[in-house]
Amino acid sequence: MKRVAITGIGIEIPAGKVTNDELVTSFNAWVDAENARRGDDGPPLQHSSTAFIEHASGIKTRHMIDPAGVLDPQRMAPRFAHRDDDQLSLMAEFGLAAARRALDDADVAAEDVDMVICSASHQQRSYPAIGIEIQQALGTRGGAFDMGLGCSSAAAALHIATNLVRSGAQRRVLIVTPEIVTAPLDFRDRQTHFIFGDAAVAMLIEPMEEGEARPGRFEVLDTRTWTQFSSNIRNNLGHFTRAEQDDPYAVPLEGNLIKQVGNRVFKEVTVAGHKFIVDFLAEHGLTPHDMRRFWLHQANARMNAMILKLAFGEEVGHDRAPMVLDKYGNTAGAGAVIALQENHKDMKPGDYGLLCAFGAGYSIGGGLLRMM
Ligand code: COA
Repeated sequence: MKRVAITGIGIEIPAGKVTNDELVTSFNAWVDAENARRGDDGPPLQHSSTAFIEHASGIKTRHMIDPAGVLDPQRMAPRFAHRDDDQLSLMAEFGLAAARRALDDADVAAEDVDMVICSASHQQRSYPAIGIEIQQALGTRGGAFDMGLGCSSAAAALHIATNLVRSGAQRRVLIVTPEIVTAPLDFRDRQTHFIFGDAAVAMLIEPMEEGEARPGRFEVLDTRTWTQFSSNIRNNLGHFTRAEQDDPYAVPLEGNLIKQVGNRVFKEVTVAGHKFIVDFLAEHGLTPHDMRRFWLHQANARMNAMILKLAFGEEVGHDRAPMVLDKYGNTAGAGAVIALQENHKDMKPGDYGLLCAFGAGYSIGGGLLRMM
């Protein structure tokens, strides 16, 4: 079995930044127009508020591929230009930007990669796989496939890629996680309209020779996933959707965009998350105190603080568990990897860190890393 390292990381953040005030202004304008339209038909819809968003989630801004469509109260959704089948698709293009940076970071040529895994919470289509489109555009060899595990998508792909490289089945695996979460998000839903942003990340996974060290890079000591079925975060859109309708050519949006019972997710994933961390580390004779840094899923600042408090038995500061959620919102599978990329340069050889993502499924994915 080979030793394995993350030798390159790439991040792509769209330029369009949206503040809570901007999002709330457009949401409230839509609510006012909708209430006027409905008249006395049912209870009035309620306004959203910046104060609530910041307090409840910790999010201040997020980046989007198309803020204009989202902030237009007449539309309340991003607008992506149609692309023909012979054009590069949006999701592949977004992932490619991060993938190219990861290869540059590792100083590895595309033709030396023999597998691409495109792992994301939402895939633009079923086939041909987005991973294969990225493979073609980059010029990597071997194979490619798509997978997804909600917000644990990058962490779950790390689990697979690490073990493919460790066993010698693949030589170099490029994980690409393009998260365009604004596309399936219901910007007219007060409970969720503020949560997600768009971001893409990529990681190159390579083997190391016995005794080899790659200063400044992380060895992947072990990975793990855990899942338990829950419908508390769910998107029902699928290939059977239209067959369930009386009118198969008028697919309703209700149930077919992201929906979640946020406060139940908060409680249940907090309990499962801290247990996962403690148990996974214990398998290696380690405790949370042995970790120099935690790069946790970026869904909710209070949730991460609670998970760490349960795991450590005391409050833990942001130096130990940095947050990028305030800037980028919840970027699904990308969040923990962005936290890792932005917060590791100060770590010393031998320092341990834990990448841990959690989300829909429920799902949790973890990677125990050690700085070389
Ligand atoms: N603006 C103002 N008030 C709002 C609001 C908004 N946008 N959205 C909800 N509220 C109100 C609710 O109506 C409720 O009012 P009530 O007490 O009068 O009934 C109150 O705020 C509390 O709602 P609740 O849903 O319990 O809030 P919360 O504190 O649980 O925060 C989340 C909501 C979504 C931020 C939080 O639950 C969360 O982040 N959960 C985890 C989600 C997660 O990890 N998802 C994983 C996806 S990868």
